Amino acid sequence: MSASPNGLTFNPHVAALPPYNAGTNVAIARAASGREDIARLASNENPEGCSPKVMQALASAAFEPWRYADPACTALRGALAARLGVDAAHIVVGNGSEEMIAAVSRALLVQGSQVLTVVPSFGLHEIEPLALGARVTKLPMTADCGFDLPALERAMASAPRIVFLSSPWNPVGPALSAADLQRVLRAVQPGSLLVLDEAYFEYADPGSVDGLEALKSSGLPYVVLRTFSKAYGLAGLRVGYAVCSDPEIARVMASAKTPFNVNAAAQLAAIAALEDEAWMRASVERLRTERKRVAAALGALGLRVADSQTNFLFFECRSDSAEQAAALLGQGIIVKAWREAGYERFMRATIGSSQDNDRLLAALAVLNPV
Ligand SMILES: Cc1ncc(COP(=O)(O)O)c(C=O)c1O
Repeated sequence: MSASPNGLTFNPHVAALPPYNAGTNVAIARAASGREDIARLASNENPEGCSPKVMQALASAAFEPWRYADPACTALRGALAARLGVDAAHIVVGNGSEEMIAAVSRALLVQGSQVLTVVPSFGLHEIEPLALGARVTKLPMTADCGFDLPALERAMASAPRIVFLSSPWNPVGPALSAADLQRVLRAVQPGSLLVLDEAYFEYADPGSVDGLEALKSSGLPYVVLRTFSKAYGLAGLRVGYAVCSDPEIARVMASAKTPFNVNAAAQLAAIAALEDEAWMRASVERLRTERKRVAAALGALGLRVADSQTNFLFFECRSDSAEQAAALLGQGIIVKAWREAGYERFMRATIGSSQDNDRLLAALAVLNPV
């Protein structure tokens, strides 16, 4: 147990957690740059906002902030079940999909449990297991910024309790191909739960693998995570969900969350967003085109850019990315400098408006002379 100066004894696993590498706050960026027009390219939000139907739903009489919202998210789970072709009993809705990462960790892990994931990674795939005293093994990406399938297969042979993989992969960008996903599925051992985090699913190119569909027919236990924060543009409302292979996983995960975890605005907004799939698809289409343009421009600067099936790009700067990010902040541009050991030259930049992307490209050209 770790005693603190105030005489309290903290949970040592929680007290020792590494900080979550969150995007810099806009007020800090304004203070640092003296500019009002901040290019917010650190948190993979949708620069186009959200469907107008969402704003209509929030302005309607259906929004009753004085009432507790449905703790079971019955209407939203029903809408998701119909959309995804699964039984609603298999779905748990979270205060963002990040809450579902915590819930699945709490549902399965105890002190000393083994967890497998990749590096660089989405921070919470490591932080939530560590909070429970689990041991986390992280497999590095390959030299060409891809999944290291042979290493994954070897590590999965020891049957970690949870395997966390995001595909498309945050922060790197690529998605598992259908063949590679099948290799991963074949490597799942009895007693292991594969958690496939598809937060960026909607941004993958047409024809990309649908992890949920592949897992449905696999016969394996699984949890697929998706979110309304990215393509649907609801990051500020906090709503994401888990689709589980069986109701028992969903039941235990639901027990691991707080009862009224998804607020009334989030539930209404998510349903409205699902009803306006056309808005989301059109937005995704524009951002994919912009992603290709920005990737090509970074390549033209001579920077190494990972393949991306997401709404961000991961690339290698010519010097420490934290120093470059600090210089960009001074110009009112927020990006994320990668800090995991071995990746300190890598930067992740969200695809923003074309104007913001052009600001980033111009600044990077100066910071990374050939
Ligand atoms: C891979 C991945 N999973 C989960 C999340 C959490 O998203 P949210 O809690 O907003 O649904 C994120 C957010 O950036 C992410 O990149």
